[in-house]
Amino acid sequence: MRRSDENAEAIAYVAPLIGCDSISFYLLLGPSCAQPRPPLFRPAARSTRFAIPANGLRASGRRGYASEAGSEKSGSSFGLWALGLGALGAAGGAYLYLNGDSSPKGPFVPTKADYQKVYDAVARRLADETDYDDGSYGPVLVRLAWHASGTYDKETGTGGSNGATMRFAPESDHGANAGLKTARDFLEPIKAQFPWITYSDLWTLGGACAIQELGGPSIPWRPGREDRDVAACTPDGRLPDAAKDQRHIRDIFSRMGFDDREMVALIGAHALGRCHTDRSGFDGPWNFSPTVFTNEFFRLLAEEKWVQKKWNGPTQFTDKTTGTLMMLPTDMALVKDKGFKKHVERYAKDSDAFFKEFSDVFVKLLELGVPFKTDDRIVFKTSDSE
Ligand code: HEM
Repeated sequence: MRRSDENAEAIAYVAPLIGCDSISFYLLLGPSCAQPRPPLFRPAARSTRFAIPANGLRASGRRGYASEAGSEKSGSSFGLWALGLGALGAAGGAYLYLNGDSSPKGPFVPTKADYQKVYDAVARRLADETDYDDGSYGPVLVRLAWHASGTYDKETGTGGSNGATMRFAPESDHGANAGLKTARDFLEPIKAQFPWITYSDLWTLGGACAIQELGGPSIPWRPGREDRDVAACTPDGRLPDAAKDQRHIRDIFSRMGFDDREMVALIGAHALGRCHTDRSGFDGPWNFSPTVFTNEFFRLLAEEKWVQKKWNGPTQFTDKTTGTLMMLPTDMALVKDKGFKKHVERYAKDSDAFFKEFSDVFVKLLELGVPFKTDDRIVFKTSDSE
């Protein structure tokens, strides 16, 4: 049995060791840490309202762009990896294992297997909680990971996923973050189950998990983010405004350090989920399979005819064929602008290229501004892998 299983009921939290005059111990019962590993499960996170296209989940699912060789390399450099995490633990607050008699055994240093357990718990919850939107919380988890990361400013080094400052007002109240409480709340039971993980690691891991579980590419992920307090909240206005044009897209994403190709690839995440009138004011999904990661967003953007929707709401576009799908003004800017359009057309035709390039750029997004102690990333096993 794994060390964490043996000791799960006796994990204790030690208040931040650095910069503290006194150390307070809080005993966390953490019964969920001792829960048996769930049996293999398949994602039930599929649309109940839309048909999944033939080239959807199965055709695109489980493509691994991070090679097995990468995982082996991970193993060989594991000592260093664990050491780095140990240092992080000491800086941000450490977890100690306790024996049954509550005497400390040593610092809890999560292993890759521990992070895989967190992944499995998120995947399990995604599969279980299907009574939401189109049948999955996956899309809103992706949006949480992106909004937590997309505040990064390369000039000042502020913002980014390190800190999870969206836990606090004013950042949680920024208009762009409307609706993300749903995603943060969805992850709370996972945080309670694995109290040693930081919110900022958890939110990004949740996004990586959602992409993979919804049939997208592997998203190699590494831990090392520390939670920060309210003082690290970023000012409003760092995330994009969907009513604007290509200049705005370039302004926002080049501030984070992305080029045209990367901007287009990232926005391809609009294959997932939908807009909600009570959140952004916009309405509807971008394609017919909003809980399956595909290149459909690009195919529809390139091939459909899009007309302005006639309604009493913000300017958005609808497909001429069915009148049920939507595009935002910023989405339409991707085909208006020549520099963007060539990538839209490429991704529309070449799903493999999109999957590969999306994976690379989403990994980059989740890591902006994080002072990692390790270069080694974890390639998580999906819920339907052996
Ligand atoms: C120009 C850039 C972008 C703009 C203006 C934009 C805007 C929006 C808006 C208005 C919504 C609807 C929110 C709601 O009403 O619930 C949305 C949803 C979403 N966005 Fe974006 N977005 C952009 C880029 C991205 C990127 C880079 C990603 C991820 C890599 C992403 C992932 C998502 C996802 C998954 C949803 C669906 C959420 C759900 O179903 O609840 N977006 N976006």
